[in-house]
Amino acid sequence: TWTSSNIIEDQVAAIRAQVGDKQVICGLSGGVDSAVAAALVHKAIGDQLTCIFVDHGLLRAGEAEQVEKDYVAATGIRLKVVEAADQFLGHLAGVTDPEQKRKIIGREFIRTFEAAARELDAERHIEFLVQGTLYPDVVESGGGTGTANIKSHHNVGGLPDDLQFALIEPLRTLFKDEVRALGAELGLPEEMVQRHPFPGPGLAIRIIGAVDRHRLDVLRAADLIAREELTAAGLDRDVWQFPVVLLAEVRSVGVQGDGRTYGHPVVLRPVSSEDAMTADWSRLPYDVIAKISTRITNEVPEVNRVVLDVTSKPPGTIEWE
Ligand code: XMP
Repeated sequence: TWTSSNIIEDQVAAIRAQVGDKQVICGLSGGVDSAVAAALVHKAIGDQLTCIFVDHGLLRAGEAEQVEKDYVAATGIRLKVVEAADQFLGHLAGVTDPEQKRKIIGREFIRTFEAAARELDAERHIEFLVQGTLYPDVVESGGGTGTANIKSHHNVGGLPDDLQFALIEPLRTLFKDEVRALGAELGLPEEMVQRHPFPGPGLAIRIIGAVDRHRLDVLRAADLIAREELTAAGLDRDVWQFPVVLLAEVRSVGVQGDGRTYGHPVVLRPVSSEDAMTADWSRLPYDVIAKISTRITNEVPEVNRVVLDVTSKPPGTIEWE
């Protein structure tokens, strides 16, 4: 019968047999899958694993710290952090087209990861790459296994020929809820294990308009309030995802105290879904929405209006870009 501890024991044995005394790398994204996959591999082979975290500067409030501090504290994993926010924001400057944003982020991600992998390879010859592929990913991509490419959560191709690694995919037979159970059993931080899905291109596709540091800060502040209030209301598990979107090119008139404001709207986009292929807008209690709205307009000076997206998917997508 299926239990988390059975799976862990089996996988630990399998990983040890596969890896022997060779060196392994794993890219962390801040998401559940890579975090659990790496923790499992670390349990099996300890310091033969090195993780790489590319901080592209597009994560939500606290997420980079969660990887760099809480995750490392919980697992003892050796982590190489690449601070790449300047690089990503430099290439994104002035770009408004959603697909263009994705392309740039995907390209820079591969470049950066590859450079970090090369550096590590020079230090200690690397033979394996861990990927957090789940069973639904396997089915979706036709079931093949192979060597070497970074999981296409940025929808991009593989590593170059001279940087080939064999894959370790310890979550290949598992569904998301099983992976979460495994993560909890491995002692990972609750916020990380229960994290809602979050797109690879991050907040860049939740700013409608060009991305810059100031806009990211504004969106982060609003997003954090929405997440805090959802959690405080005990509704995290009722919602599949809760994007908060900054309409950075739109302004509307408002009033605050004695003065007129001319600020930006944010859109709340809480959705319910099974698999993100279809979705419905979440019927959050009005008092929760009211609290989020009041707090955002009080605490984030650039935002003077909060609107609720009541579109299902289809015809709307979950993300706005
Ligand atoms: P849409 O917006 O198409 O999103 O309804 C469906 C699911 O996919 C996520 N999403 C992405 N994930 N890279 C990703 O890794 C992307 O470019 C991307 N675009 C959308 C979205 O958050 C939702 O879970």
